[in-house]
Amino acid sequence: MFSKLKLITGNANRPLAEEVARHAGIPLVDIDLFKFSNDESFVKINDNVRGADVFVIQPTCYPVNDNLIDLLIIIDALKRASAQRINCVIPYYAYARSDKKDQPRVPITAKLIADLITVAGAHRVITVDLHADQIQGFFNIPVDHLYAIPTFARYFKSIMPMDDIVVVSPDSGGANRARALAKRLNCTLAIGDKRRSGNEDKTELLNIIGDVKGKSAILFDDIIDTGGSLIKVSKALVEKGAKKIYAACTHGVLSGNAVVNLEASPIEKLFITNTIPLSEEKKNCQKIIQLSIAEMLAIAIKKVHIEESISILFR
Ligand code: R5P
Repeated sequence: MFSKLKLITGNANRPLAEEVARHAGIPLVDIDLFKFSNDESFVKINDNVRGADVFVIQPTCYPVNDNLIDLLIIIDALKRASAQRINCVIPYYAYARSDKKDQPRVPITAKLIADLITVAGAHRVITVDLHADQIQGFFNIPVDHLYAIPTFARYFKSIMPMDDIVVVSPDSGGANRARALAKRLNCTLAIGDKRRSGNEDKTELLNIIGDVKGKSAILFDDIIDTGGSLIKVSKALVEKGAKKIYAACTHGVLSGNAVVNLEASPIEKLFITNTIPLSEEKKNCQKIIQLSIAEMLAIAIKKVHIEESISILFR
Protein backbone atom coordinates (compact mmCIF):
# COMPACT_ATOMS: atom_id res chain seq x y z
CA MET A 1 0.00 0.00 0.00
CA PHE A 2 1.28 3.46 -0.88
CA SER A 3 1.10 5.93 1.97
CA LYS A 4 0.81 9.37 0.41
CA LEU A 5 -1.35 10.21 -2.62
CA LYS A 6 -0.16 13.30 -4.49
CA LEU A 7 -1.55 15.01 -7.60
CA ILE A 8 0.60 17.16 -9.82
CA THR A 9 0.03 18.84 -13.17
CA GLY A 10 1.96 20.58 -15.91
CA ASN A 11 0.46 23.30 -18.07
CA ALA A 12 -1.41 21.09 -20.54
CA ASN A 13 -4.86 21.18 -18.92
CA ARG A 14 -4.83 22.92 -15.54
CA PRO A 15 -8.65 23.34 -15.35
CA LEU A 16 -9.09 19.56 -15.69
CA ALA A 17 -6.36 18.87 -13.10
CA GLU A 18 -7.97 21.32 -10.66
CA GLU A 19 -11.35 19.66 -11.13
CA VAL A 20 -9.83 16.22 -10.56
CA ALA A 21 -8.13 17.53 -7.40
CA ARG A 22 -11.47 18.92 -6.15
CA HIS A 23 -13.19 15.57 -6.73
CA ALA A 24 -10.30 13.70 -5.08
CA GLY A 25 -10.32 16.14 -2.16
CA ILE A 26 -6.57 16.80 -2.24
CA PRO A 27 -4.63 19.87 -3.43
CA LEU A 28 -2.28 19.89 -6.41
CA VAL A 29 1.42 19.73 -5.58
CA ASP A 30 3.07 23.14 -6.01
CA ILE A 31 5.45 23.22 -8.96
CA ASP A 32 7.24 25.84 -11.03
CA LEU A 33 7.20 25.02 -14.71
CA PHE A 34 8.41 27.54 -17.24
CA LYS A 35 10.53 28.05 -20.32
CA PHE A 36 13.85 29.88 -20.43
CA SER A 37 14.32 32.46 -23.17
CA ASN A 38 16.26 29.78 -25.08
CA ASP A 39 13.02 27.69 -25.30
CA GLU A 40 14.22 25.00 -22.88
CA SER A 41 11.68 23.87 -20.27
CA PHE A 42 12.43 23.83 -16.54
CA VAL A 43 10.52 22.27 -13.68
CA LYS A 44 10.94 22.49 -9.92
CA ILE A 45 8.67 20.60 -7.54
CA ASN A 46 8.20 22.72 -4.44
CA ASP A 47 6.54 20.11 -2.16
CA ASN A 48 8.06 16.97 -0.68
CA VAL A 49 7.09 13.89 -2.74
CA ARG A 50 9.53 11.41 -1.10
CA GLY A 51 7.87 8.00 -0.86
CA ALA A 52 4.64 9.28 -2.42
CA ASP A 53 2.26 7.70 -4.91
CA VAL A 54 2.20 10.54 -7.44
CA PHE A 55 -0.30 11.04 -10.27
CA VAL A 56 0.87 13.43 -12.99
CA ILE A 57 -2.11 14.85 -14.90
CA GLN A 58 -0.84 15.95 -18.30
CA PRO A 59 -2.62 15.26 -21.61
CA THR A 60 -0.29 15.63 -24.57
CA CYS A 61 -2.55 18.09 -26.36
CA TYR A 62 -1.58 21.29 -28.19
CA PRO A 63 1.21 22.43 -27.99
CA VAL A 64 1.86 18.71 -28.27
CA ASN A 65 5.64 18.57 -28.20
CA ASP A 66 5.97 21.11 -25.36
CA ASN A 67 3.41 19.26 -23.25
CA LEU A 68 5.10 15.95 -23.98
CA ILE A 69 8.55 17.17 -22.98
CA ASP A 70 7.07 18.81 -19.86
CA LEU A 71 5.52 15.46 -18.93
CA LEU A 72 8.88 13.74 -19.36
CA ILE A 73 10.81 16.25 -17.26
CA ILE A 74 8.15 16.19 -14.52
CA ILE A 75 8.54 12.40 -14.39
CA ASP A 76 12.32 12.80 -14.22
CA ALA A 77 12.08 15.39 -11.45
CA LEU A 78 9.72 13.12 -9.46
CA LYS A 79 12.04 10.14 -9.89
CA ARG A 80 15.01 12.15 -8.64
CA ALA A 81 12.88 13.48 -5.75
CA SER A 82 12.33 9.85 -4.59
CA ALA A 83 8.63 9.51 -5.42
CA GLN A 84 7.76 5.86 -4.77
CA ARG A 85 5.42 5.40 -7.74
CA ILE A 86 4.84 7.69 -10.73
CA ASN A 87 1.47 7.33 -12.46
CA CYS A 88 0.95 9.35 -15.63
CA VAL A 89 -2.63 10.44 -16.20
CA ILE A 90 -2.65 11.21 -19.93
CA PRO A 91 -6.33 11.68 -20.80
CA TYR A 92 -5.44 12.54 -24.42
CA TYR A 93 -2.53 10.56 -25.86
CA ALA A 94 -1.13 12.44 -28.87
CA TYR A 95 0.43 10.65 -31.84
CA ALA A 96 -1.98 7.75 -31.20
CA ARG A 97 -2.89 7.68 -34.89
CA SER A 98 0.75 6.93 -35.72
CA ASP A 99 0.30 3.38 -34.45
CA LYS A 100 1.44 1.27 -37.40
CA LYS A 101 3.95 1.22 -40.24
CA ASP A 102 1.41 1.42 -43.03
CA GLN A 103 3.70 3.16 -45.53
CA PRO A 104 7.36 2.67 -46.31
CA ARG A 105 9.81 4.60 -44.12
CA VAL A 106 7.32 6.00 -41.59
CA PRO A 107 7.73 5.91 -37.79
CA ILE A 108 5.41 4.35 -35.21
CA THR A 109 5.43 7.45 -33.07
CA ALA A 110 2.83 6.17 -30.57
CA LYS A 111 5.30 3.42 -29.65
CA LEU A 112 8.23 5.85 -29.46
CA ILE A 113 6.29 8.08 -27.04
CA ALA A 114 5.40 5.03 -24.92
CA ASP A 115 9.12 4.19 -24.71
CA LEU A 116 10.03 7.77 -23.77
CA ILE A 117 7.45 7.85 -20.96
CA THR A 118 8.65 4.50 -19.63
CA VAL A 119 12.35 5.32 -19.84
CA ALA A 120 11.70 8.65 -18.08
CA GLY A 121 10.53 6.63 -15.06
CA ALA A 122 6.75 6.19 -15.21
CA HIS A 123 5.33 3.12 -13.46
CA ARG A 124 1.79 3.31 -14.85
CA VAL A 125 -0.34 5.16 -17.39
CA ILE A 126 -4.01 6.06 -17.02
CA THR A 127 -5.55 7.21 -20.28
CA VAL A 128 -8.91 7.71 -21.96
CA ASP A 129 -10.16 6.39 -25.31
CA LEU A 130 -6.92 5.55 -27.05
CA HIS A 131 -7.28 5.70 -30.81
CA ALA A 132 -6.51 1.97 -30.89
CA ASP A 133 -6.76 -0.41 -27.91
CA GLN A 134 -3.55 -2.16 -28.86
CA ILE A 135 -1.50 0.97 -28.01
CA GLN A 136 -1.72 -0.39 -24.45
CA GLY A 137 0.69 -3.07 -25.64
CA PHE A 138 3.25 -0.42 -26.64
CA PHE A 139 3.92 -0.01 -22.90
CA ASN A 140 5.70 -2.53 -20.71
CA ILE A 141 4.11 -0.93 -17.65
CA PRO A 142 0.42 -1.21 -16.65
CA VAL A 143 -2.04 0.92 -18.65
CA ASP A 144 -5.48 1.64 -17.25
CA HIS A 145 -7.61 2.46 -20.27
CA LEU A 146 -10.77 4.39 -19.37
CA TYR A 147 -13.71 5.13 -21.66
CA ALA A 148 -15.87 8.22 -22.06
CA ILE A 149 -18.81 6.12 -23.29
CA PRO A 150 -20.53 5.93 -19.86
CA THR A 151 -20.26 9.74 -19.56
CA PHE A 152 -21.74 10.29 -23.04
CA ALA A 153 -24.45 7.64 -22.55
CA ARG A 154 -25.61 9.13 -19.23
CA TYR A 155 -25.73 12.59 -20.80
CA PHE A 156 -27.60 11.57 -23.96
CA LYS A 157 -30.18 9.63 -21.95
CA SER A 158 -30.78 12.73 -19.84
CA ILE A 159 -31.30 15.15 -22.75
CA MET A 160 -33.09 13.26 -25.53
CA PRO A 161 -35.48 10.37 -26.07
CA MET A 162 -33.71 7.32 -27.43
CA ASP A 163 -36.45 5.88 -29.67
CA ASP A 164 -35.35 7.40 -33.00
CA ILE A 165 -31.57 7.53 -32.39
CA VAL A 166 -28.99 5.79 -34.55
CA VAL A 167 -25.33 5.83 -33.51
CA VAL A 168 -23.06 6.21 -36.52
CA SER A 169 -19.40 5.28 -36.71
CA PRO A 170 -17.69 7.45 -39.34
CA ASP A 171 -15.60 4.47 -40.47
CA SER A 172 -15.25 0.72 -39.99
CA GLY A 173 -12.26 1.26 -37.65
CA GLY A 174 -14.52 2.94 -35.08
CA ALA A 175 -17.36 0.42 -35.37
CA ASN A 176 -16.67 -1.36 -32.06
CA ARG A 177 -16.59 1.94 -30.21
CA ALA A 178 -19.87 3.12 -31.78
CA ARG A 179 -21.49 -0.28 -31.19
CA ALA A 180 -20.62 -0.01 -27.48
CA LEU A 181 -22.40 3.37 -27.28
CA ALA A 182 -25.39 2.08 -29.31
CA LYS A 183 -25.68 -0.86 -26.92
CA ARG A 184 -25.74 1.43 -23.90
CA LEU A 185 -28.34 3.68 -25.54
CA ASN A 186 -30.29 0.65 -26.70
CA CYS A 187 -30.45 1.97 -30.26
CA THR A 188 -29.32 0.95 -33.74
CA LEU A 189 -25.93 1.32 -35.41
CA ALA A 190 -24.81 2.55 -38.84
CA ILE A 191 -21.30 2.72 -40.27
CA GLY A 192 -19.71 5.11 -42.76
CA ASP A 193 -17.84 3.25 -45.45
CA LYS A 194 -14.96 5.69 -45.74
CA ARG A 195 -12.08 5.37 -48.18
CA ARG A 196 -9.04 7.50 -47.40
CA SER A 197 -7.20 9.29 -50.18
CA GLY A 198 -3.38 9.46 -50.04
CA ASN A 199 -3.28 12.58 -47.87
CA GLU A 200 -3.95 12.00 -44.07
CA ASP A 201 -6.11 15.13 -43.92
CA LYS A 202 -8.39 14.18 -46.83
CA THR A 203 -11.00 11.44 -46.63
CA GLU A 204 -13.55 10.24 -49.16
CA LEU A 205 -16.88 8.89 -47.96
CA LEU A 206 -18.54 6.39 -50.25
CA ASN A 207 -21.54 5.01 -48.39
CA ILE A 208 -23.50 4.67 -45.17
CA ILE A 209 -24.17 1.09 -44.13
CA GLY A 210 -27.38 0.90 -42.07
CA ASP A 211 -30.72 2.65 -41.82
CA VAL A 212 -30.61 6.36 -40.95
CA LYS A 213 -33.68 7.71 -42.78
CA GLY A 214 -35.94 9.82 -40.53
CA LYS A 215 -33.66 9.20 -37.52
CA SER A 216 -31.53 11.43 -35.33
CA ALA A 217 -27.93 10.39 -35.82
CA ILE A 218 -25.17 10.57 -33.22
CA LEU A 219 -21.87 10.40 -35.06
CA PHE A 220 -19.42 8.90 -32.60
CA ASP A 221 -15.62 9.00 -32.87
CA ASP A 222 -12.58 9.10 -30.61
CA ILE A 223 -11.07 12.28 -32.05
CA ILE A 224 -12.31 15.31 -33.93
CA ASP A 225 -9.21 16.95 -35.32
CA THR A 226 -9.75 19.03 -38.49
CA GLY A 227 -13.36 17.83 -38.49
CA GLY A 228 -12.96 16.61 -42.07
CA SER A 229 -14.04 13.02 -41.41
CA LEU A 230 -17.14 13.84 -39.36
CA ILE A 231 -18.33 16.67 -41.58
CA LYS A 232 -18.10 14.49 -44.71
CA VAL A 233 -20.11 11.76 -43.02
CA SER A 234 -22.64 14.30 -41.71
CA LYS A 235 -23.29 15.45 -45.31
CA ALA A 236 -23.76 11.85 -46.42
CA LEU A 237 -26.22 11.35 -43.55
CA VAL A 238 -28.25 14.34 -44.77
CA GLU A 239 -28.35 12.80 -48.24
CA LYS A 240 -29.54 9.52 -46.73
CA GLY A 241 -32.44 11.31 -44.97
CA ALA A 242 -31.22 11.61 -41.37
CA LYS A 243 -33.46 14.05 -39.47
CA LYS A 244 -30.93 15.59 -37.07
CA ILE A 245 -27.20 15.12 -36.76
CA TYR A 246 -25.20 15.30 -33.56
CA ALA A 247 -21.57 14.37 -33.08
CA ALA A 248 -19.79 13.07 -29.99
CA CYS A 249 -16.01 12.73 -29.75
CA THR A 250 -13.91 12.11 -26.67
CA HIS A 251 -11.00 14.31 -27.75
CA GLY A 252 -11.77 17.75 -29.20
CA VAL A 253 -8.48 18.52 -30.93
CA LEU A 254 -10.29 20.94 -33.27
CA SER A 255 -7.24 22.07 -35.23
CA GLY A 256 -7.04 24.43 -38.21
CA ASN A 257 -10.46 25.60 -39.45
CA ALA A 258 -12.36 22.90 -37.56
CA VAL A 259 -14.63 25.31 -35.67
CA VAL A 260 -15.48 27.42 -38.75
CA ASN A 261 -16.20 24.27 -40.74
CA LEU A 262 -18.25 22.82 -37.90
CA GLU A 263 -20.37 26.00 -37.77
CA ALA A 264 -21.13 25.63 -41.49
CA SER A 265 -21.84 21.89 -41.29
CA PRO A 266 -25.12 19.99 -40.80
CA ILE A 267 -23.91 18.92 -37.33
CA GLU A 268 -26.26 20.59 -34.82
CA LYS A 269 -24.21 19.98 -31.68
CA LEU A 270 -20.76 18.55 -31.04
CA PHE A 271 -20.31 16.91 -27.65
CA ILE A 272 -16.71 16.53 -26.51
CA THR A 273 -15.06 15.84 -23.17
CA ASN A 274 -12.53 17.99 -21.35
CA THR A 275 -9.48 15.79 -22.03
CA ILE A 276 -8.24 18.81 -24.02
CA PRO A 277 -8.87 22.40 -22.84
CA LEU A 278 -10.91 24.71 -25.09
CA SER A 279 -9.62 28.07 -26.29
CA GLU A 280 -11.94 31.09 -25.85
CA GLU A 281 -12.92 30.89 -29.55
CA LYS A 282 -13.97 27.27 -29.14
CA LYS A 283 -15.79 28.00 -25.87
CA ASN A 284 -17.81 30.63 -27.71
CA CYS A 285 -18.94 28.22 -30.40
CA GLN A 286 -22.62 27.55 -29.67
CA LYS A 287 -22.41 24.11 -31.26
CA ILE A 288 -19.79 22.77 -28.85
CA ILE A 289 -20.81 21.25 -25.53
CA GLN A 290 -18.10 19.97 -23.20
CA LEU A 291 -18.74 17.15 -20.73
CA SER A 292 -16.40 16.54 -17.82
CA ILE A 293 -14.52 13.31 -17.16
CA ALA A 294 -12.84 14.76 -14.05
CA GLU A 295 -14.86 12.72 -11.57
CA MET A 296 -14.14 9.51 -13.49
CA LEU A 297 -10.40 10.30 -13.38
CA ALA A 298 -10.56 11.12 -9.66
CA ILE A 299 -12.28 7.80 -8.93
CA ALA A 300 -9.73 5.92 -11.06
CA ILE A 301 -6.83 7.64 -9.28
CA LYS A 302 -8.21 6.84 -5.83
CA LYS A 303 -8.90 3.22 -6.76
CA VAL A 304 -5.44 2.74 -8.27
CA HIS A 305 -3.93 4.32 -5.16
CA ILE A 306 -5.66 1.89 -2.79
CA GLU A 307 -5.14 -0.94 -5.30
CA GLU A 308 -8.81 -1.63 -5.93
CA SER A 309 -10.45 -2.69 -9.19
CA ILE A 310 -11.52 0.15 -11.49
CA SER A 311 -14.10 -2.00 -13.31
CA ILE A 312 -16.91 -0.05 -11.66
CA LEU A 313 -16.07 2.78 -14.09
CA PHE A 314 -16.99 0.65 -17.09
CA ARG A 315 -20.50 -0.17 -15.84
C1 R5P B 1 -9.63 8.22 -37.69
O1 R5P B 1 -9.40 7.02 -37.77
C2 R5P B 1 -9.98 8.90 -36.40
O2 R5P B 1 -10.77 8.08 -35.59
C3 R5P B 1 -10.70 10.20 -36.65
O3 R5P B 1 -11.87 9.92 -37.38
C4 R5P B 1 -9.89 11.18 -37.46
O4 R5P B 1 -8.53 11.06 -37.22
C5 R5P B 1 -10.35 12.58 -37.15
O5 R5P B 1 -9.57 13.48 -37.87
P1 R5P B 1 -10.23 14.69 -38.68
O6 R5P B 1 -11.18 15.36 -37.74
O7 R5P B 1 -9.06 15.55 -39.06
O8 R5P B 1 -10.92 14.10 -39.88
